[in-house]
Amino acid sequence: MTDSTAQSFQITLLPGDGIGPEIMAVAVNVLKQIGEQEGIKFDFTEAPIGGVAIDTTGVPLPKDTLSICRQSDAVLLASIGGYKWDSLPRSQRPETGLLGLRAGLGLFANLRPATILPQLLEASSLKPEVVEGVDIMVVRELTGGIYFGQPKGIFETEDSDQRGVSTMAYTGKEIDRIGRVAFETAQKRQGRLCSVDKANVLEVSQLWRDRITALSKSYTDVELSHLYVDNAAMQLVRAPKQFDTIVTGNLFGDILSDAAAMLTGSIGMLPSASLGESGPGVYEPVHGSAPDIAGQDKANPLAQVLSAAMMLRYGLDRPATADRIEQAVLSVLDQGYRTGDIMSEGMKVVGCKAMGEALQTALSS
Ligand code: IPM
Ligand code: MG
Repeated sequence: MTDSTAQSFQITLLPGDGIGPEIMAVAVNVLKQIGEQEGIKFDFTEAPIGGVAIDTTGVPLPKDTLSICRQSDAVLLASIGGYKWDSLPRSQRPETGLLGLRAGLGLFANLRPATILPQLLEASSLKPEVVEGVDIMVVRELTGGIYFGQPKGIFETEDSDQRGVSTMAYTGKEIDRIGRVAFETAQKRQGRLCSVDKANVLEVSQLWRDRITALSKSYTDVELSHLYVDNAAMQLVRAPKQFDTIVTGNLFGDILSDAAAMLTGSIGMLPSASLGESGPGVYEPVHGSAPDIAGQDKANPLAQVLSAAMMLRYGLDRPATADRIEQAVLSVLDQGYRTGDIMSEGMKVVGCKAMGEALQTALSS
C-alpha cells in the first residue's frame, strides 16, 4: 500500500526510564514499517527526559530537550521515574521534568481513553458483564489545578512546626478552555459529558461547575451531568457503562484515569494524548516506568504502540494509518498473544520484543 501524498514528519522520541526504552523500540519499529508501507517519512530525534536526563545533564528536563520538542510535529514519550531518583529534592525529580514538559508546551488537555477490548474481558478484575462494552474518554485538565497552583511549598511556622501547602486553583478561562475540548470530544462520541468536581466542599470546584454549566448552553447537542469525585470513583467501578466522556481537573483526572484504565484489565493497554492550543502534542502511555520489570523483556508495549496511533490520529492527521495500527493490536490479541500483565488461561505469553514482532507480522499481512 503506497500513499501518493508522501509526507514527512519530525518526531521527537523521549524513551525516558524503566521499561521506556523497550516499549519505545517496539513503537518505533511499527512506525518505521507503516511509514515504508504508506510513504510517510518519520524523522526521529531522541532526547533525554526524567531520570536518564538527571544522570546525564543534572536536570530532569534539559533546555535542549524542550526546544527539540517545540520544533517537532509531535512528541512520543514512554515513561519516566524510578527508585533511584525518588529521594532527590523535588526540583530534580523525574516527575518535575514531565510537568515542565506539559507546562512548557502548553498541553492543557489530556485525553485518556479507556476502552474494553472483547479479547481482554477476562483480564479485568471486574465481572465481564460489568465491563463489557465500556468505552470512556477521560478529558483531564493538565497544566493547572493543584499541580501548579500557588502558593506551594513546605514552610516553617512561627511555632517551629512545618506547614505543607499546595493550592488548588482554576481561573474561569482555564475551565472554559478544557470545557470546550471536552464538549467537542463528547460531540464526536456519544454526546454525553459528565463533569467531575468536589463542589460540595471546594470553592474552586464551585467555579468549575458554574463555568461548565454556562458553557453547556453553547453545546445543546451534548447532554451534561455532574458528579462529585467520590461518587464518580464509586460509579466507575460500580457501573462504568454509564460514562461516555468525563471532564475533570488535574488531580481528580490523575486518579480517575488510573481507575478507568484498570477497568480494561491492565493499565499496560492505555494510551493518552496531551494537546495544547497549537504546536506539537505529547503522546504517551498512561502507565509508569515499571522499574520492577525494566530490562527483562516483560513489559507490555501495546499502550506505547496505541499512543503512536493516537499521535497519527490527533497530531499528524493520519486517521487511516492510526486505524491500521489499532487493527494490528486487535489482531495480535485475537491470535492469543499476551504479555504477563494481560495473561489469561489458554493464551500465549510473550515478552515485549515478541509482541512487537507479532505486531509487525500482522501489519505486513
Ligand atoms: C500521570 C502520572 C503523572 C501525573 C506523574 C508521573 C507526575 O501519574 O501522567 O498520570 O501525576 O500526572
Ligand atoms: Mg497518573
